[in-house]
Amino acid sequence: MKTRILLVEDLPDALELMVDLFSNKGYEVDTATNGVEAIRAIKNKEPDIIVSDIQMPVMDGMELLKNVTKDYPYIPVIMVTAYATIDSAVEAMKIGAKDYITKPLRLDEILAKVERISQLNSLIKENEFLLNKLQQKYDFTNIIGKTDKIKQLFTLVQDVASTNTTVLIRGESGTGKELIANAIHYNSARMKRPFVKVNCGVLAESLLESELFGHVRGAFTGAIKDKVGRFELAHGGTLFLDEIGDISLNMQLKLLRVLQEGEFERVGGTETIKVDVRILAATNKNLEEAMEKGTFRNDLYYRLNVIPIEVPPLRDRSDDIQYLVYHFIEKFNKIYGKNIRDIDPKAMSILKNYDYPGNIRELENLIERIVVLNKSGIIELKDLPSILPAEENVAGSEINIKKGLVRAVEDFEKRLILQALEENSYNKVQTAKVLQINRSTFMSKLKKYDIN
Ligand SMILES: Nc1ncnc2c1ncn2[C@@H]1O[C@H](COP(=O)(O)OP(=O)(O)OP(=O)(O)O)[C@@H](O)[C@H]1O
Ligand SMILES: [Mg+2]
Repeated sequence: MKTRILLVEDLPDALELMVDLFSNKGYEVDTATNGVEAIRAIKNKEPDIIVSDIQMPVMDGMELLKNVTKDYPYIPVIMVTAYATIDSAVEAMKIGAKDYITKPLRLDEILAKVERISQLNSLIKENEFLLNKLQQKYDFTNIIGKTDKIKQLFTLVQDVASTNTTVLIRGESGTGKELIANAIHYNSARMKRPFVKVNCGVLAESLLESELFGHVRGAFTGAIKDKVGRFELAHGGTLFLDEIGDISLNMQLKLLRVLQEGEFERVGGTETIKVDVRILAATNKNLEEAMEKGTFRNDLYYRLNVIPIEVPPLRDRSDDIQYLVYHFIEKFNKIYGKNIRDIDPKAMSILKNYDYPGNIRELENLIERIVVLNKSGIIELKDLPSILPAEENVAGSEINIKKGLVRAVEDFEKRLILQALEENSYNKVQTAKVLQINRSTFMSKLKKYDIN
């Protein structure tokens, strides 16, 4: 998109010079010869940036600037001032001008300043746009659930979001702990500050330490320059310590100190660094058991467990499954450009009765696979072989004996093949091997049952 510039100048020659300059550089140019005209132009044209002279009749540049900073604080203004009145430039900066240019006009100087400021401004706009997107993503309307269990959870999340308290989020794998952590941050007063995540479970102890606290150059072999840790990066914002149940006792002690004192040193460093960071932690481990075994420190547990949030497993709120299914169908329809419109009630009932050891992540992956592979636009039983209960797979109600033995056996065979395919990631060679039939027999069966 072209940048729209408003040039405000009462001297025709100077104005023409600038109009030529910016039109040639591809800007959309609007003009005004005094402050009153300028305000009208701002209303009608919504410029991205304004360059204004100070001395003008009717309403001068200072008055205009005051109006813009009050009513349109997001539009940057550059003031043009006569060299003799440099004081007014200083004054203009105080009022809120982004920069100033002194007369006599030097075109390269004007251009450089305008380009720098409009780039900066579009970065700011883009940032706000991205932040907005993130807030929308973690808005509660995108966390699906209508059961009482999940509503209570939302209320709790909303209540703790506005505080600065440490929160320990617990729940099985795939229940949505990370989503909740994001929702807390993006609904808190810190939402415009960083949300920094550390997965404590995947890093070796020494790496985790330098990841969290940073290190100074030469602290250990390979530390070729200073590194800022996640605690510092999260300053003013939120630090999410994921998989907190997996850290060593030694690291637990180091963490405890930061949580208690709000200060630490970089690895190998002597300077004490103070930070203001809100801590959220998550785990799928049983920390009480770990404390009994002596693998998790009591004092750290109490520091973290100020507000515990328990995210229930999906099987305990199976009434939410249907909403999640629709939510994910819509999501993957969009991503893959598909148009799945409906789901067969029998298929929905299977989806609702499955117990999802991998919780929402498992359901999400399942729906993604179904959406990708489905051709008919309707999700049916045959789309979910991997979660069909055993009896359905063997001689389930779907197999109609009245069709006669041959057809019933064929139905059964087709279903077995589909299931085997799915279990083997649709790798034909592998599936044929598992079914212990040769490749050409297998291919002819695929053709016979119209599976591709
Ligand atoms: N209530 C919900 N509504 C919509 N999507 C959800 C919901 N809960 C979780 N999800 C989705 O499920 C997936 C898993 O969630 P998340 O990563 O937060 O789980 P987790 O508890 O952190 O898992 P793990 O313990 O394995 O790290 C994500 O893609 C998330 O967006
Ligand atoms: Mg997680």
